[in-house]
Amino acid sequence: MVEVNKVKTNVWIVDNVVDKQHIYPQIKEAARLLQCGEVVAFPTETVYGLGADATNTTAVEKIFAAKGRPSDNPLIVHIARREQLESIVSDVPDIANTLIERFWPGPLTLILPKKEGVISDRVTAGLSTVAVRMPAHPVALALIRESGLPLAAPSANRSGRPSPTMAAHVLDDLDGRIAGVVDGGETGIGVESTVLDCTVKVPTILRPGGITKEALAEVIGTVVDGSAVTNEQEAPKSPGMKYTHYAPKSPMMIVYGSPSFLQTLVDKQRALGKKVGVLTTEENLAFYRADAVLACGSRHDLHTVASHLYDTLRQFDQTDVDIIYSESFPAEGIGTAIMNRLQKAAGHQVIVEGETHF
Ligand code: TXA
Ligand code: MG
Repeated sequence: MVEVNKVKTNVWIVDNVVDKQHIYPQIKEAARLLQCGEVVAFPTETVYGLGADATNTTAVEKIFAAKGRPSDNPLIVHIARREQLESIVSDVPDIANTLIERFWPGPLTLILPKKEGVISDRVTAGLSTVAVRMPAHPVALALIRESGLPLAAPSANRSGRPSPTMAAHVLDDLDGRIAGVVDGGETGIGVESTVLDCTVKVPTILRPGGITKEALAEVIGTVVDGSAVTNEQEAPKSPGMKYTHYAPKSPMMIVYGSPSFLQTLVDKQRALGKKVGVLTTEENLAFYRADAVLACGSRHDLHTVASHLYDTLRQFDQTDVDIIYSESFPAEGIGTAIMNRLQKAAGHQVIVEGETHF
């Protein structure tokens, strides 16, 4: 793995509202560094990505080094124009075309057969497939266009940490390890794109995300959810599925039950002298007595929970709690992605009201 030398990390602040990013000198400078084989973080509609020229192996290796990412976990290639797809993949099945027309630009990553000799094998970790998406964010699109490159970009966090939804998160993890970050404010959706395998007979969700299973099924009929916990023995279809992710520094448990049941768990830990955190929503914020009670969004609109989830997990790292109890959410719509990320953050530790524990 390439050693990371301490570098000065540029911060380019841009406006993410107007659609004229191509004229911004900041975007031009970031694009020029990408052309020179440097790594640059930028906002997308889901989370911040850490971009590099996907055709340049040395550049791509810098992503893995900066993140401390295992090299068998492949990266998503980001494009800005539909025509770029043909230069990267060897075939676009009809079903993929239908999805592209409906959901691109947007938080849907498609796994397609890779065209040989264009995208670095380091991006695809030696697989015969490649993950591609077109982000729906004016800054991301302007940067990709200006660079003229397909950009490999995983989330711009240190491996295992919650994904960044603002430039400050990127700097917390990667300051001094990357050439720069384009700061376009908060990202919006807050959880990563849905990863959909289109190389199998029935399209299969490898990671739930910004586009729900229900929305996909409406357009293409049957969709399989293959994102459930993978068996250790089986080689995971999406290598990213096997790693612990998004973890706050303190251990976390997901609680299925009422707020009063969750409070009894808190009280037991505090009686043992432990400092306890609670991850809740605005509705229940005033209910809990604990050492840190943090709300991420409102239960009445799970999109607000998705958009604040990673920031809330990071906020727990600023506290001195020994353990975090998190409320659970209905696993439907965007709730599927929220619960997937929470379960990973908790290392799949759950407590169900009515079942015996301790
Ligand atoms: O929203 C997003 O998708 C963000 C933004 C920056 O675009 N990106 C992102 O990238 O979440 P990353 O690297 O953190 O996650 C990529 C996921 C991993 O789970 C990886 O294993 C999977 O996509 N993946 C990439 N290429 C694959 C392939 N050829 N086959 C199966 N899974 C693949
Ligand atoms: Mg990631």
